[in-house]
Amino acid sequence: MEPERFKFDVEPLDFLLPQGVLRSSLIGVFGETGTGKSVLLNEIAYRALERGDRVLMVLLEDTPASRLMNFSALGFDVMDYVRRGDLEFLDCFSYRIRERGIELPEDLTGTLNGAKGIVSVEDPRNLDTFWDQIERDARNMRGRGMVLIDSLTEFLTITPDPSPLLDLMKIMKAVVSKHYMVPIIYTFHFGFFDDFRYVLEVASDGVLDLRFNPEVIKELLIKQMRVRRMSGSRHRPDWVTFDVEPGKGLVILRK
Ligand SMILES: Nc1ncnc2c1ncn2[C@@H]1O[C@H](COP(=O)(O)OP(=O)(O)O)[C@@H](O)[C@H]1O
Ligand SMILES: [Mg+2]
Repeated sequence: MEPERFKFDVEPLDFLLPQGVLRSSLIGVFGETGTGKSVLLNEIAYRALERGDRVLMVLLEDTPASRLMNFSALGFDVMDYVRRGDLEFLDCFSYRIRERGIELPEDLTGTLNGAKGIVSVEDPRNLDTFWDQIERDARNMRGRGMVLIDSLTEFLTITPDPSPLLDLMKIMKAVVSKHYMVPIIYTFHFGFFDDFRYVLEVASDGVLDLRFNPEVIKELLIKQMRVRRMSGSRHRPDWVTFDVEPGKGLVILRK
């Protein structure tokens, strides 16, 4: 039996991973602030939606409204997907605002009120209810769709003890990725929780690194990515230089 694979339809990723990756993968995107982790996740989401897949995007750093603005700034119109619920924002950020007694509208223009794809998590620090929501969605997406988490570092800052979260990631890998065949891709900032990062890298099937080209960092911030590890798939070993172009997403600058 041929294992099930998918291609990202994101130029630098497809160059680095000519065969695509296994659907049963847990993949981490590692890099410092500004290297493009969130834009990469946005494009991965948009391309998956274009292919007819569903996407569950776990937001820990921003509200669905602000994430929608980022999608528009990239030239990716996802409004209809959010309305139908094909793109679901699992909002793990707004609880902070609610705790201060402020209720924000779901989106600032009001056009997304009642959209199926905006789901609020009451308190993401409660890992049991968080897991229930992920598991239910992933079960519905079996063999299709993907789960994206931006960012796991932020998740660590709100959980008092990182080890239950690491345990949850291992359960998610076993149930969501391997059993439901729904890939999980998470972002992780370099420089925080390094002990946790090493354990997480070992637990992941794939590791992508994003960085600023160290040779020219004083003059320019040139973004690069490489695949450090991808279980079950062939990958090119080199760094690829890319830029972000509105309307196109991530494009290779030179190979
Ligand atoms: N809409 C856009 N148009 C052009 N460049 C963008 C756009 N969005 C992001 N970028 C580029 O990507 C960089 C940051 O990406 P981001 O994904 O937020 O980084 P990270 O999540 O790794 O901190 C920005 O500093 C900018 O260079
Ligand atoms: Mg980010």
